Parts: sequence; structure tokens; C-alpha cells
Amino acid sequence: MIQIGKEGKRMRRILIVVGSGNINGHTDQLARVFEKGAIQAGHEVKRIVLSKNLQGCQGCGACQINQHHCVIQDSMQEYYAMFEWADTLVLASPLYFWSISGRLKCFIDRLYAISQNDEYPYKETFLLMSAGDNHFWTFEQALSFYSFYTKALGWKSLGSVLAGGCHDESHQPYIPPLKLQEAYEKGLSL
Ligand SMILES: Cc1cc2nc3c(=O)[nH]c(=O)nc-3n(C[C@H](O)[C@H](O)[C@H](O)COP(=O)(O)O)c2cc1C
Repeated sequence: MIQIGKEGKRMRRILIVVGSGNINGHTDQLARVFEKGAIQAGHEVKRIVLSKNLQGCQGCGACQINQHHCVIQDSMQEYYAMFEWADTLVLASPLYFWSISGRLKCFIDRLYAISQNDEYPYKETFLLMSAGDNHFWTFEQALSFYSFYTKALGWKSLGSVLAGGCHDESHQPYIPPLKLQEAYEKGLSL
């Protein structure tokens, strides 16, 4: 159910899914500033850093005859409940070989368990990504996957922040400050 706040503004339940193992790394920092903006705007936010042990979908199909329960007992069991709670899904990933991270892809694939006749609960989505390169085409493949995926599931994309040019400076993550600002402002403006 859509919740409306005091000033007639829509209050969202936002789930930020971070598909990077680097706590406080480039992607996690983008996610944190986005979260900060969203909380300031009055939304409810949950942020998860995907477990390193998250398994991929094994394609057994058991979920489709088993009341949509996935047989793999790992942290995804906890994530399913959070996914159902959220009306807005923020996917956050480092760029790995011009695509999203394997960890985030495992999360996406495992959502198959809760699909019914290839239909998924409706979500509005946002994409946050970090990368080392900063060419005009750096995020082309990842963005293409994201756009296709959200459209195919009938979801609505609210936009993206694509932070190229991230690198480590003396073991400290560096994200272009304008991109951090952009992520914060997007969170605030949701
Ligand atoms: C396995 C791997 C593959 C990567 N592939 C790319 C790539 O294709 N293009 C790119 O610009 N950066 C690539 N990078 C760099 C990361 O996207 C970049 O360092 C990112 O900001 C790391 O985010 P994190 O701090 O959240 O881990 C790759 C890094 C790794 C570890």
C-alpha cells in the first residue's frame, strides 16, 4: 500500500541491495549517501550488503511447485522478506567486466522463486554503480541489462547514478565528489 506523509508526499519503503563485498568501498559509499538523502526525505530505508556466501539459482524449479519457497537455505531467505516489504528497490553494484557483480546477479536470479507465472511483485527501482573507467560507454552493457530487466518485469525505473573514475588512493576509496553529491540528491528527491 502506498503511504502518504504529512505534506502529501509519498513515503517509500526502500530496500538498497549492495552487491559489493567491500564494506565502505565505492559502491557501499554511494549507497550510504543515497540512503542518507532518502532518510532525510522521510522514507523508510533498509540497506543490505549481500552475503559473500549467497548462492546462485540452481534452476531446480522446486520453488514453482513448492509455494514459492527456494530450497537453498542461505541468507536469501532473509532477503526475500525484505524484498516483499519494499516498494522501491535500489540495486547497487560495482562494474565487473562491463556488467553488474556476480553477487547482485545471484540475488536477481534467486528472485525467480517468488515469481508466479513469470510475474513479479511490482517495484520501482533505482541503479547505483561504481567503476574504475570513465568512458562514455563504460556502463553501456550494465545499463542495458538493467533497463531491459526492469522493463521486462513491468517495473518502473526512477533513474541511476553511474560513478565512473573511482579508484583507491593510498588504500582509501575515492569516488568523484560530484557523483557522491548526485547520489545523495537522488535519494533526497525520491
Ligand atoms: C573483478 C573485477 C572486474 C572489474 N571490471 C571492471 C570493468 O569492466 N570496468 C571498470 O571500469 N572497472 C572494473 N573494475 C573496477 C571496479 O568496478 C571499481 O573498482 C569499483 O568501484 C569497485 O567497487 P567497490 O569498491 O564497491 O568494490 C573491476 C573490478 C573487479 C574486482
